[in-house]
Amino acid sequence: MAKMKLPRRVELVEVGPRDGLQNESRSVPTAVKIELIDRLTAAGLPVIEAGSFVSPKWIPQLQDTADVLAGIRRKDTVRYPVLVPNMKGFQRALAAGAREIAVFAAASETFTHKNINCGIDESLERFEDVCRAANQNRIAVRGYVSCVLGCPYEGEIAPAAVARVAERLRDMGCYQISLGDTIGVGTPIKTQEMIEAAAARVAVETLAVHFHDTYGQALANLLTALQLDVAAVDCAVSGLGGCPYATGASGNVATEDVLYMLNGLGVETGVDMGALLEASRFISDVLGREPVSRAARALLRHEQRA
Ligand code: HMG
Ligand code: MG
Repeated sequence: MAKMKLPRRVELVEVGPRDGLQNESRSVPTAVKIELIDRLTAAGLPVIEAGSFVSPKWIPQLQDTADVLAGIRRKDTVRYPVLVPNMKGFQRALAAGAREIAVFAAASETFTHKNINCGIDESLERFEDVCRAANQNRIAVRGYVSCVLGCPYEGEIAPAAVARVAERLRDMGCYQISLGDTIGVGTPIKTQEMIEAAAARVAVETLAVHFHDTYGQALANLLTALQLDVAAVDCAVSGLGGCPYATGASGNVATEDVLYMLNGLGVETGVDMGALLEASRFISDVLGREPVSRAARALLRHEQRA
């Protein structure tokens, strides 16, 4: 049988401390966030999104990001990006010692208004200013495109709309562009069409994928993306997450599930499953629930029986 075409190595971008915790109704103490990030660092995650510098009125859950950045034990080889929506956020990130930021656009006009209170073109203009300032300060910028496979307000999203925003983010200097199925409605063929449209405008080596598992499609979509040469994958420990401005969106694809699949496929990540499970158990205990990750639940049960 012909071997499945897959990248040799995949970069896992852990977004749980940001995309996950921004969505929790109960407040999570700063010390817990710090311990979670330190555990994820110890597990070998190469990129860990540490929080955001958005309006605390919009996302109170992450208003302590400066304290989180000050408290974590940063490892030289690990990147700790933070989300920034505008110049005010950039100044705050700079003052807090962030060395990498992420700007977040969307392929849907209505979602952009609900999420950052402006239209797509205006958001891109703001991000251009942010990218220019980041470049002057030698800060790397990652870009997001949300709603790439559907929008909670507008429904279907054309692949060409995704490609247009991805290209603009690349042109303003984003080193990587993460394509987000914010509400998890995508299926594999739609994923393929969307990635092919984006890769026709932006080098596939600069693309990442960001799936939410609302409809249980995340791993299938992810495998489709890997077969199209995408080699960077966003995921959240314990399947934390959602988006407060996308009603019904459930958690990100769980890091444990992604790692289980990649280990099974022989794709390198540098992440240690045992240490990742410890991080998953830690945050799940604090939140008072079982990990959403099916792999984590199975492996932890197996461990208890052994
Ligand atoms: P606005 O109300 O239009 O802002 O919000 P404004 O510029 O008119 O300012 C209003 C007030 O907010 C002012 O304060 C500003 O100083 C302050 P006041 O004079 O009233 O005291 N302000 C700020 N404060 C702190 N930090 C800032 C900041 N900016 C303004 N950066 C704004 C516009 C963009 C600020 C707001 O809409 C916002 O913060 N939105 C963020 C929403 C968010 O974080 N959403 C979740 C992340 S996106 C996501 O989850 C999707 C993703 O995961 C990918 C996927 O899943 O597909 C990335
Ligand atoms: Mg997300």
